[in-house]
Amino acid sequence: MSGGKTLLELVRGCTFDDVLLAPQHSVLERRDPARIDLASRLSTHLTLQRPIVSANMDTVTRAPMAIVQAEEGGIGIIDRGFRAGQIDAQVREVEIVKRTQHGVIPDPLTVTPEASLEHAVGLMERSGVGSLVVVDEAHRLVGMLTERDVRFVPGTRRVAERMTPRERLVVRGPIGVQEAERVMVEHKIKKLPLVDRDDHLVGLVTAKDLLKQRRQPFATRDAQGRLRVGAAIGAKGDYLERAAELIKAGVDVLVIDIAHGHSTVMAHAVGRVRARFGDFELIAGNVGTAEGARFLADLGVDGIKVGIGPGGGCSTRLTTSFGVPQLQALVECRLAVGDAVPIIADGGIRRDGALALALACGGDTAMLGSVFAGTLETPGEVVQKSVLLAEGQRTVQVPFKVLRGMASIGAIKDRLDVEDAEDVDLDALGAEGLEISVPARGSARPVIQDMIKHLCSAISYGGARSLAELRRRVWEAPERYVIRLSGAARRESYERP
Ligand code: XMP
Repeated sequence: MSGGKTLLELVRGCTFDDVLLAPQHSVLERRDPARIDLASRLSTHLTLQRPIVSANMDTVTRAPMAIVQAEEGGIGIIDRGFRAGQIDAQVREVEIVKRTQHGVIPDPLTVTPEASLEHAVGLMERSGVGSLVVVDEAHRLVGMLTERDVRFVPGTRRVAERMTPRERLVVRGPIGVQEAERVMVEHKIKKLPLVDRDDHLVGLVTAKDLLKQRRQPFATRDAQGRLRVGAAIGAKGDYLERAAELIKAGVDVLVIDIAHGHSTVMAHAVGRVRARFGDFELIAGNVGTAEGARFLADLGVDGIKVGIGPGGGCSTRLTTSFGVPQLQALVECRLAVGDAVPIIADGGIRRDGALALALACGGDTAMLGSVFAGTLETPGEVVQKSVLLAEGQRTVQVPFKVLRGMASIGAIKDRLDVEDAEDVDLDALGAEGLEISVPARGSARPVIQDMIKHLCSAISYGGARSLAELRRRVWEAPERYVIRLSGAARRESYERP
């Protein structure tokens, strides 16, 4: 970080569109995203293979978005924009993500040998699971029952009559995923039950899950092979109870997300979360100054979210005139905390090139919201709107989705459930977010994949072999990289008809 002070001088008062990076001698033969190391720390104990985080906004991240993000190597943070007291709804989203993929399924669905086939078929249909493990009342393995075993057989018959019994099954002790895969290949089986010494069922490994893991080598998974997911909790009201339920559901990281994280409210909330949940992975934000970042680092959080007002759905700067240009904020905060606490560059990344800048100049990872707006995986209804085409004065129906800032009137109303309350003056809520319609489009997956490809190109232009090396080079010799733009150069660079 020897050139950190110079870098700060170069970007003071700047955001992404105010600078370009000068191309360097390239050493990469291929810009292949599968080979270029993009690993970045999200927080003290969590590393992502792709440095992308989807924003905790109620029009961006719920389970479908979080699943795509984790499968592609990033992570999604489930918003807390459910109505007050509605902790269950957020918990359910976390549970859905955690149940999407498994390495070893620790609690496979089971039936008893005495159960009727009708009962077993019902269980298969309700859960979408095609094979059940048969256990006795002490949870000891006695067999397996698959869809094939129950086809065309009267439902009044017993499970024991149709199951493959224990002695004809391949069974192992509590082994890891790699060893399980070896056993399954050797025996040409699709399911492998795991038992302890006393034959109690302790897990199930399926070929389907292993194949998925193979196909997505960069996915963000926990020790059990499940996708990782984060959730926002806020700093007031039900945040402790919410945190407790989310942790129970298997959430991997909590985010205390408030507009102004350099505050007494934040210190109080972090203190109480730490007192109750010990060193559970905790990210906090947002801040935009060196002092703010140091404040959060001193509170002992595992990650710091940086960004006051750059967000696409955000009107804080318009309504208050407070904020810090995002590029300056990132450099300032990184200089303040060094490598001690990972930084999430939150907001303002509207083109892929800005992602490279955010990650080279201070962000370990980047949080994005509006870039994903309107994609298939965002929550919310698709609404058809009439759009007047300039040529020929024709009107066409175009599908739209809503993107709204979490501090917009709409989002606040939903969160506080003030729809029917008479005495709440909505103006007094002090909205700092916008609500806009965006064209509905396809999946977020290609959006992420394109971003990653472009990030690899940026690494190549920067004369580096990995994202970490690009960062190191920019911080060591910022004057070789950073070019402040004149108005004309900015137009030439970033304005296209
Ligand atoms: P982008 O630019 O990717 O930014 O859409 C996403 C981030 O914007 C922030 N955000 C808000 N900030 N008022 C604000 O001051 C709001 O209503 C609001 N909604 C979202 C948030 O940090 C998010 O991650």
